[in-house]
Amino acid sequence: MTIVETIADRHDITPQELAQILTANDDTLLKELFATARRVCDEVYGKRVFMRGLVEMTSYCRNDCLYCGLRRSNEQAVRYRLTPDEIEQCCDKGYRLGFRTFVLQGGEDGWFTDDRLVPLIARLRQRFADCAITLSLGERTEESYRKLFQAGANRYLLRHETANAAHYSRLHPPEMSFDNRMQCLRQLREIGYQVGCGFMVGSPWQTVETLYEDLQFIRSFRPHMVGIGPFIPASGTPLADHKAGSVDTTLRLLSLIRLIHPQVLLPATTALGTLHPQGRELGIMAGANVVMPNLSPTEHRKDYSIYDNKLCTGHEAAECRGCLDQRIRSTGNELTTDRGDSLIPTSQGN
Ligand code: 5AD
Ligand code: FES
Repeated sequence: MTIVETIADRHDITPQELAQILTANDDTLLKELFATARRVCDEVYGKRVFMRGLVEMTSYCRNDCLYCGLRRSNEQAVRYRLTPDEIEQCCDKGYRLGFRTFVLQGGEDGWFTDDRLVPLIARLRQRFADCAITLSLGERTEESYRKLFQAGANRYLLRHETANAAHYSRLHPPEMSFDNRMQCLRQLREIGYQVGCGFMVGSPWQTVETLYEDLQFIRSFRPHMVGIGPFIPASGTPLADHKAGSVDTTLRLLSLIRLIHPQVLLPATTALGTLHPQGRELGIMAGANVVMPNLSPTEHRKDYSIYDNKLCTGHEAAECRGCLDQRIRSTGNELTTDRGDSLIPTSQGN
């Protein structure tokens, strides 16, 4: 058996195999890796690529992650906050464009209390009964997660960022804790959300060993979704002068995640598209099956600057459904408006 067949067969990888795949300079091996991951994805989900409409609802953040352009200490960051009505209008526009999943994402903004979010989510749930509502609003209390779920949210994205506690503490200020992050993920899953974790590829101080821990975490946690994309330096942050992660390594990791956890929903992220003009198509050919175009109001898009040069116009925009269709078709797959629920049951059994 080849190394790729071994990994696909075992749904597991050893540290040695990971090092071998990440350093391989062998086109035949890489072709086999990407093609096998793509085939496994086809067997599970078919040739369908799911789309999610991203609403970047606030660029305010109380946190100070060292890598993120929205960190509170970044004085260069332009802050905006959508009103609940504006958020609803973004979803309206998305619904008309065919979206059946909305991702409400934002920094950890104290303005969005449960008392403000619950009526908003309840209203979206009522108006868009056939849609999935995904939240990506960072760390909140278990009680808050529960209220938002009861109001009608179905999914929650919270990247674990790194499964190595020492690495986590180098990327975050002292007041943020690895244990709390992990606890949030467990709580979200326990409440019944479809849960997404994930990490940046090529973040400062990442090693093959920390990546191995990320893959083992994914194997044991079995999230419904995993978001990964290259680290891209953000100006105005302490990590602005570090080098960006690589597209190529991201593609290899996308494939490995597909092989060790075949049922996962795996986006070809905006960060991948930012570093390479065909980044997302390459991601899909390496086993990804989700794209997340932007539904945010055009005038604010440039201000949701998690990292520099983030794609926010043209092909990235949800308005450009036609271009996106075309791009996905170029990979031999097809964009679908299905909700695209995970095939992995939630803890509530649905
Ligand atoms: N480069 C790439 N991704 C980043 N994120 C935050 N900052 C950066 C950056 N500089 C990712 C984090 C976060 C998600 C919303 O964006 O993984 O969880
Ligand atoms: Fe906002 Fe990391 S800087 S959560």
